[in-house]
This record gives sequence, C-alpha cells and structure tokens, in this order.
Amino acid sequence: MLEKLNEIERLGLDALEAVRDEAALEAWRVAHLGRSSALMQLFNGFGQLTKEERPMVGQRANEVKKVLEAAFGARSEEMRQAALKRSIEQERLDVTLPGRRVPLGRLHPDTQILRELYRIFGEMGFQVYRSREVESDEYNFQLLNFPVGHPARDMQDTYFVESEGRGDNPIVLRTHTSPGQIHAMREVAALNPHNPPPVRIVLPGMVYRYEQVDARHETQFDQIEGLAVGLGITFSNLKGTLADLARRLFGQNVRTRFRASFFPFTEPSAEFDIECFLCGGKGCTVCGGGWLEIGGCGMVHPVVLRNGGYDPERYTGFAFGLGSQRIAMLRYRINDIRYFWENDLRFLEQF
Ligand code: PHE
Repeated sequence: MLEKLNEIERLGLDALEAVRDEAALEAWRVAHLGRSSALMQLFNGFGQLTKEERPMVGQRANEVKKVLEAAFGARSEEMRQAALKRSIEQERLDVTLPGRRVPLGRLHPDTQILRELYRIFGEMGFQVYRSREVESDEYNFQLLNFPVGHPARDMQDTYFVESEGRGDNPIVLRTHTSPGQIHAMREVAALNPHNPPPVRIVLPGMVYRYEQVDARHETQFDQIEGLAVGLGITFSNLKGTLADLARRLFGQNVRTRFRASFFPFTEPSAEFDIECFLCGGKGCTVCGGGWLEIGGCGMVHPVVLRNGGYDPERYTGFAFGLGSQRIAMLRYRINDIRYFWENDLRFLEQF
C-alpha cells in the first residue's frame, strides 16, 4: 500500500513537470486529484484495510494528497506569472500596434467666440469687467430706469430667487448684463467722485430668462455688454464701434443695420442686426427675415448715468448688449442655439 502511494506521488509530480498550458493543467488535476484518480480510489478502498494498516496508510495518503495539491497550486501560480510576463514582453516589443489616441479636450465654441471678442474689443481699448450673475431687482431693473411695475419689465421674463422680506427688491438671476453698467460706473466714479474718469469696458456673462425655447432663444445664454462713458461720446461712436466689430469678425463686406428700438436705460435705442450668412439673406429658421438680431444698443440714459455717479450734463455714453451665441452661430454656421448647452460631443467635437 505504502509503495503504491509513493508511486502515485512520483507519477503525479513527474506528470506535472510536463504541463505547459491551462488545459493540460486542468487535465492533470482531474487525473491526479479528481474523483476517479488512483489516489481517491485508494481513499475509497480504505474499508478493506486491516485495523493495523489503517493509521499508517491513512497518514501517508493524506500526506500525498497535500503534496500533490501544493504542487498543483505552485504550478498554476508559476504559469500565471509566466503568462503575465509574456504579455508584458509582447506589449513592450510590438511596435507595429497603432498608438492609442489620447482624447484631447477643446474650447467650447462659445468660449472661442468670447475670446475673439475680448481680443477685438481689447484692440479698440475696452477692458473686460465682470459682475455677478445673481442680482437684486434694484440693480437688474430699478437703477436701469425700470421702476417697480414698469411694463418694459415684460421684455425680460425673470427668474426670481426665493428671498423673503425684501419687498420691492427681490433677488433675481440677472436677465441681462446691463446691471454691470451700474457696478462698473460706480466703481470707476468712486476713484474720483468730482471728476469721474472715463469708462470703456466689455462685460461678458451668463444671463437667464424664462423664455420659450426655439432655434434662437434659450433660457440661459451669454451676453457681452459694452459701455463707454466719457466726454463727447456720440451715437456715431456707437455705430462705428459695432460696424467695425462686424467687419473684424466677418470681413470688410459684411452688411449691418441699426433699427430704432426701445430700452428704458438707453435713449435713443436701437437694435443691431447682421445679415444672416446661414441663408444668404433669404430668411431661415434662425434669422426669420434674412437679418440676425445680434443685440440692443443705445446712448446711456441720463437717469442711468446719474445712478452710476456721472453727471449727465457733462458726460455721455453708449452701451450695447450682444448675444455671443448669435455671433458664434453666424461665425460657425450653427443653425440652432440649443446645441450650445446640450453637451453633445458630436456637436462639440466640430470646433
Ligand atoms: N440689456 C438689453 C437686453 O438684454 C440689451 C442692451 C444693452 C440694450 C445695452 C441697450 C444697451 O435686451
């Protein structure tokens, strides 16, 4: 019996030496440790042994089983390590595999157009100024000459922030970048209250309106406000600035137009349009009638100048508020404003 066990052990260990792959390893396990292996058969035949034989044979049989199991474990770990090493070596050596593309982020088209606008306005002498997105009713409306209850407030359907006990001065998400005009003027005027220095800023940022969404309207969009206040500033300066902007963006032959309009904080007021390149001026879902409305503009209203700390008897100024997405739409031929914030990579990857 003991000799038989020795042989089982030797045969098993020898056979394991020859094992080279996973399948052979599994076959070995079945043959040498499986239910019908010689070793297991021997365990089953225990009953036939004499009382004296049993302890010795039993002890030795368990020993052989442990030895074979340990050898199996060691061999399978060895093979696993070898496979790992092979795969690492292969990876190191196979220079013919195509490289993996690193996905590169890129600037959002709106960021791109804003940066271009900062550059152009920078060349014209405007500085970038930023102000808050969450405003008080006072700054968003009242100081801009929209008194409480003024019907012109309906032009800008407003998101109110829950804020109790503020009466006629609730907190709102700014509906336009124009409240920044007051912040900027007050900040600059404070430098020298009796003789306030001139202001020449552009003021970019998100604005929010509770609006019907369509191809050219979103509830959230970027505006870029412009403000120039100083001595002797005229409507011609405003027209020249915006016409020049359009030429710098779209070339010498671009057509622009100003339409008379109304805003409480400018007088006179106008709407600034650029011809629609998407349809070649024929009229499409984006522009409607061949011209795309880019924004509002006008001469700063005397009440607003005064609220900003500038004496309207001495100072004049112009202001404009442009939709930067509208400009990007013309620039990049985007025919629906809703694409901007959908975060669809198929759109974003085109820029
Ligand atoms: N704030 C106005 C709007 O959002 C645009 C505007 C800005 C008009 C500055 C005139 C002067 O509709």
